[in-house]
Amino acid sequence: MSGDDTRRPGDELLQPEMMGSEAEVAFEGALRPKSLAEFVGQQRVRGQLQLLLDAATIQNRTPDHILLAGPPGLGKTTLAMIVAHESGRPLRLSSGPAIQHAGDLAAVLSSLVPGEVLFVDEIHRMARSAEELLYLAMEDFRIDIMVGKGAGATSIPLDLAPFTLVGATTRSGLLPNPLRDRFGFTAHLEFYDADELVQVLRRAAVMLELRIEESALIEIATRSRGTPRIANRLLRRVRDYALVHGGEATRAVVRSALELYDVDELGLDRLDRAVMLILLTRFNGGPVGLNTLAVSVGEESETIESVVEPFLVRIGLIVRTPRGRMATREGWEHFNMQPRNDIADQLTQKHRRAAGERAVSDGTEPLFDDEL
Ligand SMILES: Nc1ncnc2c1ncn2[C@@H]1O[C@H](COP(=O)(O)OP(=O)(O)OP(=O)(O)O)[C@@H](O)[C@H]1O
Ligand SMILES: [Mg+2]
Repeated sequence: MSGDDTRRPGDELLQPEMMGSEAEVAFEGALRPKSLAEFVGQQRVRGQLQLLLDAATIQNRTPDHILLAGPPGLGKTTLAMIVAHESGRPLRLSSGPAIQHAGDLAAVLSSLVPGEVLFVDEIHRMARSAEELLYLAMEDFRIDIMVGKGAGATSIPLDLAPFTLVGATTRSGLLPNPLRDRFGFTAHLEFYDADELVQVLRRAAVMLELRIEESALIEIATRSRGTPRIANRLLRRVRDYALVHGGEATRAVVRSALELYDVDELGLDRLDRAVMLILLTRFNGGPVGLNTLAVSVGEESETIESVVEPFLVRIGLIVRTPRGRMATREGWEHFNMQPRNDIADQLTQKHRRAAGERAVSDGTEPLFDDEL
């Protein structure tokens, strides 16, 4: 796995095991579906995007700006590429962390060709001054460039070529409202169900020239945290295991391989388990604030909030309450422990459902102000 020297801006959002070797990155690129038709799942978002692109084609204009929001590995970058591909437009790639000054953004915007799709990954991490420049650019395809300093400073308006901004974010809650409002459409990507992940895996297995049983695909899919990137990565580990041990990738092979790589039946990996165990043992099941949890497992709170928590909430092992994160009865039971406080029992079915639904509909947004 990669060390610090291979980290790129934004990589801290990924768990160490999410960052692969170069071969894995290349494999991920090769696996990206090229069209909306090939893109598995996210039916609603696909329909919405298709309509947006078709309408733009009919009116012969650039499609509206699009914001793609959701946890890592669900297909945001893939969709951005598809938007450019389907509308037959060139694509320019940039990212929030690379835009540290308004000037960085002005340079990109002023060099766009007419109709270009500008993809800004992790857009919530862009500098504030650049955000302000972007408001005008998105609305009027114009920016004001400041020349000189102090009393003699003047602003020179500069017309831009019409473009479509596609922003991606794992933390849409961090985007300022004026920026969010300027996107014509926001797509909230949801975790994938097992059937959809089986389709993703079947396609990847063909590309890997791996013979694999259907039941083995299902086993991988159910342990992939609802995330295509993780499904594809686990498939590669299973392929390695089958290669070394000889023979076809059966369900038993999948189980052994995933046990070796510390992925349990629900798809929890080391970090998920570390968070759960700290919550259960040190904090008696909570409630506990997110930052406290993050510090206790030695992780960035951003990683816990955008990667670990949405999944644990989704599968019902924890809930977010106004007083902090808490383990549910299922959370205790998954670790074969008796709830040590009676709060887990007091989390009524209604409360759990409400918390679960809100988390699913918007996995990246805090339900309440953090840290209590
Ligand atoms: N709907 C899908 N169908 C098939 N493959 C998919 C789908 N979504 C994602 N993938 C695969 O999962 C991998 C990760 O997707 P992608 O890079 O687009 O995620 P992301 O949302 O941009 O993640 P991050 O937030 O980390 O940048 C890609 O290799 C892609 O092939
Ligand atoms: Mg991406």
